[in-house]
Amino acid sequence: MDRFPARSRAVVACLVTAVLLTACSGPQSALDPAGPSARRLSTLWWGLFAVAAVVFAVVLFMIVWALVLRRGPSVQPRRGGERTVVIAGILVPAVVLVATYAATLSTLSAERTPPQESELTIEAVGHDWWWEVRYPDFVTANEIHIPVGRPVTVRLTTADVIHSFWVPSITSKTDMIPGRVNELSLLADRAGTFRGQCAEYCGTQHAGMSFLVVAEPEQDFARWLADQSRPADSSAPDALAALGEEVFEASSCAACHTVRGTTADGDLGPDLTHFGGRRELGAGVAPNNPGWLAGWIANSQTVKPGNLMPPQPLAPEDLRVLVRYLESLE
Ligand code: CUA
Repeated sequence: MDRFPARSRAVVACLVTAVLLTACSGPQSALDPAGPSARRLSTLWWGLFAVAAVVFAVVLFMIVWALVLRRGPSVQPRRGGERTVVIAGILVPAVVLVATYAATLSTLSAERTPPQESELTIEAVGHDWWWEVRYPDFVTANEIHIPVGRPVTVRLTTADVIHSFWVPSITSKTDMIPGRVNELSLLADRAGTFRGQCAEYCGTQHAGMSFLVVAEPEQDFARWLADQSRPADSSAPDALAALGEEVFEASSCAACHTVRGTTADGDLGPDLTHFGGRRELGAGVAPNNPGWLAGWIANSQTVKPGNLMPPQPLAPEDLRVLVRYLESLE
C-alpha cells in the first residue's frame, strides 16, 4: 500500500518549493531586482540555472537508464556508439559552454557601461565596520538616499582595509581598495529600501557591516537632501534634549563624532548631525530606537563586539538626556 498518496506528495513538493523560493525575494536579494543592472544579472542567473538544471536532469536520466539497461539480460555493444560519444560528450557540452560564456561576457560588458549620464556623484568610504557617505554638501553614514529613475555615481574608497560595496537588489558588487578609487552606478527603477552589505571579509564585524539604500521619488529625495544639508537644529524647545547636547559636547562623544552646528567635530566615527532620522544603529546591527541606543552608548561591545567605540561610563541621568538629544537630531 502506498503510504504517501500522490496528492500528499504534490502538497509536500509545493511547500518545499515555496520555502526555497522565499529566499528569492526581500530587500537584499539579487533575485528580486529593483534596477536595470540587477535585472540583467538576475536574468543571467536564471538562464544559467535553467541550463544547469536541464544538463543535470539529462545526465541523471542517462545514468539511471544505463544502470537499468546493464541489469537487462542481453546487453550487446551497439553500433554507432562513437557517434553518440562525439555528439553528447564533445559537441553538445562545447555548444552549451560557449553559449553560457558568451551570455556572461555580454552581461559583464553591459555592466561596465553606465546606463545614462549621472547628475549626482557621491562618495562611499569603507571603515572598520561602517560606511561613511559623502554627498556634495554634507556627510552622513550607513544610509544612502537616491532618487528613483536617476543614476547616482558612487566613488568607492576605503579608510583602512579592503571592503566591498554590494547592494544585491540594485547592482553587482565592487571592491573598495586602499589607494584606489572605484566607481559604480546606483540606479533604482522603483521606490523602496534595499539592504547593502560588505562583501569582502574585513575583520571581526565584517558581517555587521551593512547599510541601507533608500530609493525615493524625486520630491522626497530633494526634501531629504535639503534637510541633511542643514546643521543640527539647536533651537529645540525640548529641555531634556538641550541638556543632552551639553552632555554630548562635554563628554568624549565629541572627540570622535561630528554634529554640525555644535562644537563636536570629531572624525573617527560616523557623523551624527541627523542621526535621529536614520533607521538603524551601528551599521545595521540594531534598530535605531532609544532602548538600543542607550545600550549602544553604555557599552556598544555587547551589541557589536569588536567595534572601535569604547564603553561610555555615564551617569544614568546623563545617558537618558543624551539619548533624548541624539534621537532629536532628525
Ligand atoms: Cu567591510 Cu567586510
